[in-house]
Amino acid sequence: MRDTWLTLDPQALTGNIAVLRAHMPQSRLLAMVKADAYGHGVATVAPWLQGQVDGFGVAFIDEALALRAMGITAPIAVLEGVFTAAELEAARSAELQLAVHCPEQLALLQAAPVGQSLMVWLKINTGMNRLGFRPADALRACRQLAAAGCVSRIGLMTHFAAADELASNQTDLQLGRFRALQQTLTSEQGSAMPDSLANSAAILAWPETTGEWMRPGIALYGSSPFAEQSAESFGLQPVMTLHSRVIAVNAVQPGEAVGYSGTWIAERATRIAVVAIGYGDGYPRHAPSGTPVLVNGQRCRLAGRVSMDMITVDLGEVEAVPGDEVVLWGRGLSADEVAAAAGTISYELFCRLTARVRRPAYLAAP
Ligand SMILES: Cc1ncc(COP(=O)(O)O)c(C=O)c1O
Repeated sequence: MRDTWLTLDPQALTGNIAVLRAHMPQSRLLAMVKADAYGHGVATVAPWLQGQVDGFGVAFIDEALALRAMGITAPIAVLEGVFTAAELEAARSAELQLAVHCPEQLALLQAAPVGQSLMVWLKINTGMNRLGFRPADALRACRQLAAAGCVSRIGLMTHFAAADELASNQTDLQLGRFRALQQTLTSEQGSAMPDSLANSAAILAWPETTGEWMRPGIALYGSSPFAEQSAESFGLQPVMTLHSRVIAVNAVQPGEAVGYSGTWIAERATRIAVVAIGYGDGYPRHAPSGTPVLVNGQRCRLAGRVSMDMITVDLGEVEAVPGDEVVLWGRGLSADEVAAAAGTISYELFCRLTARVRRPAYLAAP
């Protein structure tokens, strides 16, 4: 059997939750598990999280219903909301919380049968200009929501466009707009509304963005949201490790080229390990020569183009024979470092893993 697999570490997940809670001790934690728990496998990760977090965040309703189907009873917020009356009904019967970000969704709620069962999150566009009502339109939207017969509770949510950019004033600008609106709405409603602002970067770097609910994603899984600060520096540990094995070791002479288009040429006599992983598994095809790879726990470098089923690695002084273990990212080699080498972010590395990667094992017992 082809030996390319990933392992997940539930203790790392628990440690990362503690790191996040220490940054925002007053906030409840909505664990972002959209996109199959950032590629980690929601069926494995969500049951680990249940009991350790206060709720779950997903992008769309099918992801939320899948969580309910696997027995998750905690609050689940659907951050893109629903788009049809049928979805709204399904959300109500599954007791989901819904973001409301546009007039069409507002109209759906206004037309829904009464029953006062829904917690909704009024999504405010404070400057990301992706989803949400602009502050100028939010007061009216909030009044309409309050009057909708199916709504029991309204929260206020916003999302930051650049909380990972510490030198940017974008987060301060967005926060200022949010807090001003929040004050207006709170005095209008006569009581404080639940609020939710912070993603991983905001939790770790912008304490003033604390709200009743924080919404970490990538940091939960042990990666850093910042280009310049490592996950390790925050005490975050990787939940996922991606493994494969050496399937061949070949000697090459100076001047010999390796792989498609011969983009890597040996400068000295060396040995090339061929490893059983490629872009068909989700290893990034754009990872250039020089991208780090661990062979038998020692750092080596990718040499030549990534193929569909294989990569080639310059062993240098490292000893390896077919069957030896390779780590592509995770324990001992940060996914952030590999992502940076490949011109992407660890979010994408995780989400792009394909079904061909086996997921049989845990690093530690759950
Ligand atoms: C609305 C919203 N909140 C929170 C998150 C979590 O962000 P991160 O993974 O950077 O913590 C996301 C992720 O894309 C999001 O879209």
